Amino acid sequence: MALKSGRHFLQVPGPTNVPERVLRAMAAPTVDHRGPTFQSLAFDVLRGLASVLRTSHPVVLFPASGTGAWEAALANTLSPGDRVLMYETGHFSTLWKKIADSLGLKVQFLPGDWRHGVDAGQIEQALTEDAEQTIKAVCVVHNETSTGVTSDIAAVRRAIDAVRHPALLLVDTISSLGSIDYRHDEWGVDVTVGASQKGLMLPPGLSLNAVSDKALAAKRSAQLPVSYWDWEPVLAANEKGFFPYTPATNLLFGLREALVMLETEGLENVFARHARHAEATRRAVRAWRLELLCANPAEYSSALTAVMMPEGQDASTLIETALGSFDLSLGVGLGRLAGKVFRIGHLGDFNDLTLLGTLGGVEMGLAAAGIQHQRGGVDAAMMYLADCARAVS
Ligand SMILES: Cc1ncc(COP(=O)(O)O)c(C=O)c1O
Repeated sequence: MALKSGRHFLQVPGPTNVPERVLRAMAAPTVDHRGPTFQSLAFDVLRGLASVLRTSHPVVLFPASGTGAWEAALANTLSPGDRVLMYETGHFSTLWKKIADSLGLKVQFLPGDWRHGVDAGQIEQALTEDAEQTIKAVCVVHNETSTGVTSDIAAVRRAIDAVRHPALLLVDTISSLGSIDYRHDEWGVDVTVGASQKGLMLPPGLSLNAVSDKALAAKRSAQLPVSYWDWEPVLAANEKGFFPYTPATNLLFGLREALVMLETEGLENVFARHARHAEATRRAVRAWRLELLCANPAEYSSALTAVMMPEGQDASTLIETALGSFDLSLGVGLGRLAGKVFRIGHLGDFNDLTLLGTLGGVEMGLAAAGIQHQRGGVDAAMMYLADCARAVS
């Protein structure tokens, strides 16, 4: 394969680009995971994660992809045959449901159209109909990475409270953590599911559960079998700054550095930066005369934008052209959206010029692949970013 000069543009909505200083932090020699250097590393990352999750409750970190943390959230809190209420926001909510099915849970899957977020009214309705209160958990995805739609988790919490239902609230924040405002404690989330490879700016390989007191209480009576995913041995070892198995030490070195970066920039600034890049991207999409998949402006994702292809054209043509000609990786359509959309990731270690390079690659890709569109998307994004810069200078 020919050498590609310059940097590859990895603009799928995760995994995201890993900053140089995080890469350098991970290049440290591996340490003894039972020694004092590791102990202070563990305390640092657990404290830092709690702050990004906005929680004062424990965070259980696993050397695993996000899928593992999905399973851990269910397996630690529920028993075989328990009823759970899930909401179909897209491909990832559908995958989480499949895990619940395979664990022997009885899932009520509220149907969605993959263009909107969670309808809290439907959650409230389903819980109202559950007069015996047999539903044990409500599971929702905060930022649906397959569609670019962000759901209102506080509204889901209010829906549960409005009918005084005791169900746990389990939330996937895999593609929102570190990119979009997320509040584990304030929103009354019982188990948060997160992963390393998106807003946390790390390679794949770490995932987490943040757990409320109510989730810990549920754990005591939960009957689903857990071994590797068991929170209890991890929490016990974490008290002393250790893990009950060999942890992913070098990923944790990277995580500590990434958490320092988020803290230094300030979470509010991080979220504002993501919102600005998302808005610039949407302006580009509109200028191209293409349609956004997200149908509700109140639910536009700051982490990624999913763009619908013109009727009769396959997204793979654009995605292959962008990669082959411009060394730009864009997200494919997942599940029922295969071929129908492409996704632009604008999350993680990202700035105005990275966005313009990305949008430039998309616009050139549209032209080179012969896809019907109007020129001027990059221009529209550029004008918006320049206006934003003028407003703060
Ligand atoms: C919202 C969401 N949930 C869950 C997952 C699954 O995580 P993983 O691929 O790390 O197992 C992903 C992956 O992209 C995701 O975006």
